[in-house]
Amino acid sequence: VLGSAAGGGFPQWNCGCPNCVRARTDGASGHRRTQESVAISADGDEWFLLNASPEIRAQIESFEGLHPRAPRHSPISGIVLTNGDMDHVLGLLSLRESHPLFIYATDAVRRGFSEKNVLYRTLQRFPGQVTWVHLSFGRKTHLALASGKPSGLTVTPVAVPGKPPVHLEGVAPATDEEGIGLLVQREATDETTQKTLAYFSSFGALTPEMEAVMRSADCVFADGTFWSNDELLRLGLGTKRAEDMAHAPVGGSGGTLQRLASMPGRRLFIHINNTNPMLFPDSAEAAEVRNAGVEVAHDGLEFTL
Ligand code: MLT
Ligand code: MN
Ligand code: ZN
Repeated sequence: VLGSAAGGGFPQWNCGCPNCVRARTDGASGHRRTQESVAISADGDEWFLLNASPEIRAQIESFEGLHPRAPRHSPISGIVLTNGDMDHVLGLLSLRESHPLFIYATDAVRRGFSEKNVLYRTLQRFPGQVTWVHLSFGRKTHLALASGKPSGLTVTPVAVPGKPPVHLEGVAPATDEEGIGLLVQREATDETTQKTLAYFSSFGALTPEMEAVMRSADCVFADGTFWSNDELLRLGLGTKRAEDMAHAPVGGSGGTLQRLASMPGRRLFIHINNTNPMLFPDSAEAAEVRNAGVEVAHDGLEFTL
């Protein structure tokens, strides 16, 4: 886990909410979180990023596996985008140092980032600087190594209730491809069995299809943005409810925690907003999460399935 926070990070630069104040003053830097991104690998050698956060440069530096091994090199073979929100795509512009990029995304997300965006020209310095690989629902797509060989990882996009990024609201008609979940599979080898990761870091509701994918997976990452629907309103920090932002709340009756509680795999919340009380392990909400056998992801978390 390179970054586990929602947009804005934790603490957020312009936020003096009780959580952000505590994160700044508590001394335990372990509370701090950068914006959501996860690195995955089948062989521990070549990597794929799920989302490209605005903090991508520091995130790459934070994990040795992502460091170059030659004067011009990156072990990052590709980047998979789960939606076009700024916290998931801005990092692409930071990877402008003339390196070929392989980006996996739906058409809606590709268009939203690359069309009518003058800054995208920084990723068009030479032909082939960016190769887009088209993701579509239900179609299993192999993640390819820089050499073109299969990595042993595949992603299958799953439909999630989402919405267009804030900067595209009202600009283009919304499609059903604005946000996706991912069923990531590591194919079986002679030494290992198949393992699956259900990656759903943003969703407005949990559909039966999503639930079935999560239930079948060895590990689930789920949207942990808000604990409650009216979190921003109650703190006087905003006028939007969780549902207006296409983030299903974690807590309460019918909340995501209740739905995850009975699932068999390892389950973690990610994309956690700085207002969410479960960010602090000594909160009642964090205890509720633990008691359900679910984890709150943190930056620097590493594990093997
Ligand atoms: C979200 O997760 O809802 C977005 O990242 C919000 C935003 O772009 O500000
Ligand atoms: Mn976000
Ligand atoms: Zn805050």
